[in-house]
Amino acid sequence: MKLIFLVSALSAFYCYGFQSTNLGTYKIYSESLRKKNHHINKIRSKKPQHAEPLSSGEVLSPEFYKSVYVREVAPNDGEQISDVRTTPWDNGGRPQPAIVRAYEDGKLRGRIVDAGCGEGENCIYLASKFGISSLVGFDFAEGAIVAARARVAHLLAARDGALRTVPEFHVGSCTDIARPGSPLLARDDGTEAAPFDASIDSGLLHCLSHADSEEYVRQMARLVKKSGRAFVGCFSTANPDPWQNPRRLSEDYLKGLFCTDNGWEVVDIQETWWSRPPARGSSQGAFCQALWMEARRL
Ligand SMILES: C[S@@+](CC[C@H](N)C(=O)[O-])C[C@H]1O[C@@H](n2cnc3c(N)ncnc32)[C@H](O)[C@@H]1O
Repeated sequence: MKLIFLVSALSAFYCYGFQSTNLGTYKIYSESLRKKNHHINKIRSKKPQHAEPLSSGEVLSPEFYKSVYVREVAPNDGEQISDVRTTPWDNGGRPQPAIVRAYEDGKLRGRIVDAGCGEGENCIYLASKFGISSLVGFDFAEGAIVAARARVAHLLAARDGALRTVPEFHVGSCTDIARPGSPLLARDDGTEAAPFDASIDSGLLHCLSHADSEEYVRQMARLVKKSGRAFVGCFSTANPDPWQNPRRLSEDYLKGLFCTDNGWEVVDIQETWWSRPPARGSSQGAFCQALWMEARRL
């Protein structure tokens, strides 16, 4: 009996100690960031300053992204969402804290497009808020779009008023999403989804190659209205080795991409933390060092 008690006490101490170390590190770092108040105002750069991405991270294939959105579905109900989660970035159905802050700061209003929306957590969060008139998410992984639409269908079926706006989701690549005939430009019923007041990107840019990143930035410039905003959350070069993927991006790299030649100027970049699944088990635990960028459409 004594032995069982001793083992339980030791394991509880181990688990708590481990978690509080992670959270402690996070809090100390957040505080130092707050004090540092690190931001960059009105940065205009004419030409991309870095031809090569500043990162040793690996670019994964489209097949990888398309294969990870596989969920167990209940028999006889293809729309049912099970609790089996498979993506490495699954955040337990919660929106990213940076998206929540941007909304609460009044920066996300009107028509919003979510690039690389995954299963739609960020769109669904925004769809529950005042001041958002329409939401469109797109992702090139069909499984992600099926899951996002199923989530919305469940919320609508619950009739609990959780959604103030009904988000729409489309399969599409960020490298040609503004092509003529894109569902983001004109819907079948003749209405238009674009132009958007703002685009959000929660972890898409750092998945792309440099060439695709350039094309993505130009495509978004065709979807967002003049003086509209692009918000990007990506893993930063502050993350230490060992590191495999995705790419870690620097402030200069972001400034080079969102430059005047591509139709943008960076107005702010903040260091932040990105929320990750606690079970992921990395050197950064449940958080990863990230950059949160705001750019203005010229
Ligand atoms: C790290 S996940 C983030 C998903 C979601 N935004 C989130 O916060 O959970 C990156 C997403 O980008 C999508 N993606 C990658 N390359 C893409 C491309 N070229 N066009 C559209 N989506 C892409 C992937 O399928 C994946 O869903």
